[in-house]
Amino acid sequence: MKPLRTAIIGTGMIAHFHSDSYHKIDGKTGDIQMVGLCDIVPGKAQAFAEAQGWERAKCYEDYREMIEDLEIDAVSICTPNRVHADPAIVCLRNGIAVMREKPMSYTLQEAVDMARTAKETGNMLTIGFQPRYDPNSAVLERIVQSGRLGQIYHVETGGGRRRGIPGGSFIKAEEGGYGATNDIGCYALDMVLAPLGYPKPLSATAQTSNHFGKTPAVGQAGGDWGTWTPDEFQVEDFATGYVRLEGDISLVFRTAWAMHMDSLGHTLFLGTKGGLKCHDGGLREMTLYQDLDTDLQTQSPVSAKNGDVDIFTAKIDDFVRAVVEEDTAPIPGETIVYNQAIIDGLMRSAAQGKEVAIDIPAI
Ligand SMILES: NC(=O)c1ccc[n+]([C@@H]2O[C@H](COP(=O)([O-])OP(=O)(O)OC[C@H]3O[C@@H](n4cnc5c(N)ncnc54)[C@H](O)[C@@H]3O)[C@@H](O)[C@H]2O)c1
Repeated sequence: MKPLRTAIIGTGMIAHFHSDSYHKIDGKTGDIQMVGLCDIVPGKAQAFAEAQGWERAKCYEDYREMIEDLEIDAVSICTPNRVHADPAIVCLRNGIAVMREKPMSYTLQEAVDMARTAKETGNMLTIGFQPRYDPNSAVLERIVQSGRLGQIYHVETGGGRRRGIPGGSFIKAEEGGYGATNDIGCYALDMVLAPLGYPKPLSATAQTSNHFGKTPAVGQAGGDWGTWTPDEFQVEDFATGYVRLEGDISLVFRTAWAMHMDSLGHTLFLGTKGGLKCHDGGLREMTLYQDLDTDLQTQSPVSAKNGDVDIFTAKIDDFVRAVVEEDTAPIPGETIVYNQAIIDGLMRSAAQGKEVAIDIPAI
């Protein structure tokens, strides 16, 4: 492998996972050079460099300055959701391959702008959905794409935590933008849309609430994810929605950062020849429902693959591989625009209190 000059923008919580993964890959290949680290908070990138053992990395507070100053091949962008588009676009315009942490962006327009820039420049924009690297994700995709389920006409997806409001930048409108819908809802959407080949979304309707966020005494109880006051909490902690997809497919969506429940139910694929249930929205336990004959119905557990995989390192490893081999983006931004379009539609619908059309500008 030729040496890869890497950098990280935003040296907060998730940047540590990126850094650990780059170290692991470097341990295998010896060819990762962390040349730059950037965080807008003075001293934060330097402290990160020291703690993470990237002594030779130059540290910056302004990513534009870093990009002008250094030769960089690949960057992990780990800034809060509302600071996703601009650094990605600047990096792409400067010939740098981008690993953009999920969710892709805040607004649909930002996602479109990022995908257009990747297309215009021919540089890589990949989105960091590490559950794709769980071997059971490939099993799910194989079943759905095998045709065994017939024509798929309905999917249900979602997930939630009994207590798990992240606090920090995630709950502030000017940094996180949206709440649970964008933060963890993007994974739930990707879980059903990727195996379906990302059908185009047409319209959305949703309702949101923030009962737990606005009552910190309850929202923080039993979890140590963060602390906040009711005024600081400016986003939704729960959303439920309905999306029409191209191909006469309906999608039911639900997400919660906190709730008085242990699960928001199963992820379901309903087809004309079979059905698939992912228990409690996870990938470890799946059941396939089929008919042997008109009056002989079966339900079979799908043997789980060994899920004991470091999916985070697998995602960074695949990004590095794709950059070095000059391959296409592992999870292309252009596809994930549809994921962001749904989130945008759900949030517009919740704000307007009615179903809204989803129109996606051409990339
Ligand atoms: N893939 C995953 O499992 C996963 C998990 C958690 C978070 N994330 C995503 O990663 C992103 C960051 O989350 P986090 O938990 O690390 O948040 P964080 O708040 O801990 O870190 C974000 C960092 O970005 C810095 N920053 C903000 N604006 C900047 C700018 N203009 N230039 C440079 N640095 C800037 C902040 O100072 C902070 O240090 C979010 O989009 C989040 O959704 C992904």
